[in-house]
Amino acid sequence: MNKKNKIYPPIMNASGPKSITEEDLRDVAKSGAGAVITKSMSHCPREGNKKPRLKKRLDYEIGSLNSEGLPNLGFERYKEIIPKLKEEYDKTIIASIAAADCEHNHSLKEQYIVIAEAMEECGADRLEINISCPNIGKEPIGYDPESTFDLLNEIDSEVNIPVGVKIPPYNNMEALFYEVADALEESGIDSITTMNSEPNCMDIDLENREKVIRPHNGYGGYGGAGIYPIALAEVNRFYEYFKERGDDIKIFGVGGIKSSDQAIKHFLAGADYVQIGTSIMNKGTGILKKIWKDVEDYMEDKGYETINDLTGAVEESRGN
Ligand code: DHB
Repeated sequence: MNKKNKIYPPIMNASGPKSITEEDLRDVAKSGAGAVITKSMSHCPREGNKKPRLKKRLDYEIGSLNSEGLPNLGFERYKEIIPKLKEEYDKTIIASIAAADCEHNHSLKEQYIVIAEAMEECGADRLEINISCPNIGKEPIGYDPESTFDLLNEIDSEVNIPVGVKIPPYNNMEALFYEVADALEESGIDSITTMNSEPNCMDIDLENREKVIRPHNGYGGYGGAGIYPIALAEVNRFYEYFKERGDDIKIFGVGGIKSSDQAIKHFLAGADYVQIGTSIMNKGTGILKKIWKDVEDYMEDKGYETINDLTGAVEESRGN
């Protein structure tokens, strides 16, 4: 497995916002992103949940709330789009893959494998296996270490491109964190993306006393500003765990990053790459270039030559 850091600059969109249509993906490809990641694709095209299913800005700008229900074009369509993007823009393309019940009688695992093989065939450079979607009704695979190992191990043995996995937060589940970290390590994957949105969150519109989103009784995935400290700790916890065991699993840090300072902190905590979701949704893909320029200025100022020097450079508090 080639584990070289080939994505440069190490900043990109997060799967989800602005990554469904060909136009969305072109917009990211033309931006300052070092890679383009698709919305998690399923076997069949999906329209997603009933609206309102997304609140882009919660009160006080504390983040976003969604229960979109995996709207996407279906993998056959991405199989046509990806070669065009590859040809027209010289960027790493990451195919995000999920699975959901559909009219074909494939099991969820079969769907992941069929899609993974199709993505390799059409020229995707990497995979991000989404085992953490909080919005399709079932407990995400990422909360079950055995199924996590089983799925990732099998996908990794079926394809020759790097396999990454997008995981849910484990912040208040200490024992599960260790079980999942071991499963990830043993599965042979190249990288993790931590973290997906915080599941089962809610907000209320005071004017009409309604829950702000409609699906799942108003509970959805919380992303953006408020999850930033949780994501930062998840990155650091996985980084330290893998490092201690001498494992070179790369980390894509994601969760509430909206400024260069916050991106830098993700690198210091242990991220090799960062992804931006809610902020791209609210401010557009232009912020990627701006954030990366400011990260570069910081590195020059502090004498860091490469991002690898920055990754994991945080130290313990000295208490002064
Ligand atoms: C959706 C949300 C997610 O957090 C995710 O990982 C995949 C899909 C959604 O509701 O569309």
